[in-house]
Amino acid sequence: MSGSESTAPVIVAIDGPAASGKSSVARALAARLGFLFVNSGAMYRAVTWSVLKAGVDSSDPDAVAAHLRRLTIGCGVRDGQATVTIDGDDPGEALVTPEVNDHVSPVARVPEVRETLVARQREYAKLGPLVMEGRDIGTIVFPGTPYKFYIDASREVRDARRRRQGLDDDLAARDRQDSSRAHSPLIVADDATVIDSSHLTIGEVVEAVLADMRANGFETP
Ligand code: DC
Repeated sequence: MSGSESTAPVIVAIDGPAASGKSSVARALAARLGFLFVNSGAMYRAVTWSVLKAGVDSSDPDAVAAHLRRLTIGCGVRDGQATVTIDGDDPGEALVTPEVNDHVSPVARVPEVRETLVARQREYAKLGPLVMEGRDIGTIVFPGTPYKFYIDASREVRDARRRRQGLDDDLAARDRQDSSRAHSPLIVADDATVIDSSHLTIGEVVEAVLADMRANGFETP
């Protein structure tokens, strides 16, 4: 628990661009602390997967919003990690296909999609302490948390990480779309600690995050 008077669960917000290493860091940090791990990008990806499966035009915000209203989005927890289903189906590995990579930014730009998923993300805080990663966690989803991090890495390092994952999606295009959208773009929160992970291991970034949290009053369990 933090050094504050509050009994609200500790929330660690980790934002950053694609392939910055934030997912690996968030997962490792959550495991280290015994906190729930929530990958909010998986929720945007699940809606995108459903949009594509239904043959809906991902570039048509009204069509995407209408499709969203027909969906039942199941947000659960398994083995300390958040899970997402669409109409009872687990998209599994389909979440990280090139098709989903190509279409997730336009879907994530639709205001109704953001409002729906942000509300579901906030519900996770009722379950206890958590680490949530995404693009707007420190700015929009949990702006009140004192533990906010922005994990970055150079374009070269991010491209190389992507290639090692066997992916060659256009990171620059996705960054541009995620950073320039009108509704909750990817920006660095004023009070976030920025960590450049270009030349650090996951463990080193986790240690840097923990050191910053301790300096902010957090007591490591
Ligand atoms: O973290 P990721 O690459 O899996 O995220 C996929 C997309 O989802 C990303 O390009 C933008 C969107 N996203 C978002 O808009 N807000 C979030 N909190 C998380 C992801």
